[in-house]
Amino acid sequence: MASRPFTIAFAGDVMPGRDVEAALAARRPEEFWGDALPYLRDADLSICNLETPITTSSEKWKGAKTFKFKASPHTLSILKAANIALVGLANNHTGDYGTQGLLDSFEHLAKAGIAWCGAGRTLAEARRPAVLERRGLKLAIAGFSDRMPEYQAGEATPGHSFAWPPKGTGPVPELLAPFDGLGADLKLMSIHWGADLLKRPLASRRRFARALVEGGIDIIHGHSSHMTQGVEVIEGRPVLYDNGNAIQDFWIYLWPWTQRSAVFVLEIGSDGSRLRQIPMVTRGMTLRRPDPSLLRRMLARFGGLSRALGTTMTIEDGTLVTRLQLALPRALA
Ligand SMILES: [Fe+2]
Repeated sequence: MASRPFTIAFAGDVMPGRDVEAALAARRPEEFWGDALPYLRDADLSICNLETPITTSSEKWKGAKTFKFKASPHTLSILKAANIALVGLANNHTGDYGTQGLLDSFEHLAKAGIAWCGAGRTLAEARRPAVLERRGLKLAIAGFSDRMPEYQAGEATPGHSFAWPPKGTGPVPELLAPFDGLGADLKLMSIHWGADLLKRPLASRRRFARALVEGGIDIIHGHSSHMTQGVEVIEGRPVLYDNGNAIQDFWIYLWPWTQRSAVFVLEIGSDGSRLRQIPMVTRGMTLRRPDPSLLRRMLARFGGLSRALGTTMTIEDGTLVTRLQLALPRALA
């Protein structure tokens, strides 16, 4: 008898500081996830980008930068409420409170039992994939960012994994080599790339995504622009160029599409798989399913963005679905 598919759920940027942290005083942590909660909580593995250090430090990074975020350790209850097992730390904010803020983040995430990728105490550690086992399947997940090179790890100094895709496919071997010898059944890459408010992936990022997939990456989870971009399927593998926002208070962007995003659920079966994009709108720092007229517009927009990347997504039960060739490498527990 075929076992149920293996499911991986993806959310975009989570920034549990500032207004979200203030609201947490009067809310249960799961309330922020609203209608997105069951998709993440019930998946075999749930992943998001953590767009802030987790620290109580008051020492900001010294360089010039408009927004420097931080969130207190207890805000990790929001991630725990949605069963988030791993966060991406390679982004333009995890260094906002300097080296101490990043080291504090490692400590608090470890205490909370949440894995991370894309940052470490050294460059080798920042590039090393996190390895998680679920239902007998071994998943290796690495991350990198093309933003804030000032935050990058050195040979012996903490920071994030930085790579600059516009330079052709130069850094690909360095990003892929750390997967060697791990015996992973599925290889994932969490990537914080591209400028804010980009509606579509740049050609340079598409080239880079292809090089990563050709090098063995099975799933790319992109984020950074605060806008949900289209999905491309390369060699049967899904590239989510930008997941958009999840839990945040980014009111600075008045463009309403920064508050219209999605949760993605990848279902991998023994004879193929499918990716489901579930549109969500943020209202009052809570993810909600859009009302019917907004849902129609979101399905049209998101479907069109993927179509422009050569991906056909069909509408099923108010979500967008595409079939993939990605199959389970072994029987599931
Ligand atoms: Fe970012």
